[in-house]
Amino acid sequence: MAHPGLDPDVIYCDYNATTPVDPRVSAAAWPYFSGFFGNPSTSSPYAEGPRRALRVARRQVAELLGAGPEEIVFTSGGSESDTMAVRGVAVPGGGHVVTQVTEHPAVLRSCESLERLHGVRVTYLPVDADGLVDPLDLEAALTPRTRLVSIMLANGETGVVQRVAELAEIAHRRGALFHTDAAQAVGKIPVSVAELGVDLLTVAGHKLYAPKGVGALFVRRGVSLEPTIYGGGQERGLRAGTENVAYAVALGAAAEIAAGEVDREGGRLRGLRDLLHRRLSALLPGRVLLNGHTGRRLPGTLNISVSGTGGSALLAATPGIAAATGSACHTGEPDPSGVLLAMGLGHERARGAVRLSLGRWTTRPEVEAVARLLAESARRLG
Ligand SMILES: Cc1ncc(COP(=O)(O)O)c(C=O)c1O
Repeated sequence: MAHPGLDPDVIYCDYNATTPVDPRVSAAAWPYFSGFFGNPSTSSPYAEGPRRALRVARRQVAELLGAGPEEIVFTSGGSESDTMAVRGVAVPGGGHVVTQVTEHPAVLRSCESLERLHGVRVTYLPVDADGLVDPLDLEAALTPRTRLVSIMLANGETGVVQRVAELAEIAHRRGALFHTDAAQAVGKIPVSVAELGVDLLTVAGHKLYAPKGVGALFVRRGVSLEPTIYGGGQERGLRAGTENVAYAVALGAAAEIAAGEVDREGGRLRGLRDLLHRRLSALLPGRVLLNGHTGRRLPGTLNISVSGTGGSALLAATPGIAAATGSACHTGEPDPSGVLLAMGLGHERARGAVRLSLGRWTTRPEVEAVARLLAESARRLG
């Protein structure tokens, strides 16, 4: 069934920027806007419903990640979870943190603040032409003073999936904690904190069909963090403030749906994504260049440069498609994507990049139409 928020005249290919809220998610959350209003931290009978709902939501998110419910902290989204993890480990000052150049700004800016305000030394690892961090580079960067390594699971622009399990093992061997920003990965590929071996993991609700403004941080049992918000001790004292019950319920419902659908949906989207790539390559022979690793990629993400056109010009000439050029978080910025430049792609190729990200409501006829419309625009422009 069509999603009520999707315009039949503009094909949505920007699921990595944000996803529409699944109607099943809004239905689950609605009673906590309209009826159950009690403060879950009080002893009033009104607190019981919200408290139970929060408990269920925490379990649902935990189950999606293979974690324990007590290891889930609800936050306002991916940026807050990243900040809580990176600053939470390192704020007590000194020491060394390792991250890498294609992280989301929430991690990069948090690291910069540690350098600026807290005397922490930060190493920014490079990536190769496929967008991957070399485990040997991490090995070489670690020192006895390294307290945290923060390397994302999947990149939002290219969809490239880092070798997090291997990297986390290296960090642990040298006594450092490991955080991964899985905002783009959770719900799109199976994510298990045990298999990845991470200590901290970021979840962003609006990338998995929950509303914007809710997320979670997995904090492994025994890992201690400096709080992000001080106050009444909610969320294990890490993030004070009366809980956003309705949004936590939404995230829980989204997590439960994702747990049931991630394998089948991943296969479907991989098929559609590869079909889109094949069709574009056939319609624009020799002009379509894939950005990012061919295999280690989110199933619904296709980042391509079309030679002879700029990405922004191509999308402006194709109003029937909603897609992105650089990261959605920096739209309006005419500079080429920093992620693609960091992979060593030239300015021309980086400026030509278009990110097409598919999701739950993408259909095969849509994909065929996207290929046709983009190819027509590219021929006109180039
Ligand atoms: C990898 C990654 N981390 C973090 C975020 C930020 O998440 P939020 O918008 O929920 O703050 C994004 C959003 O694009 C992202 O792609």
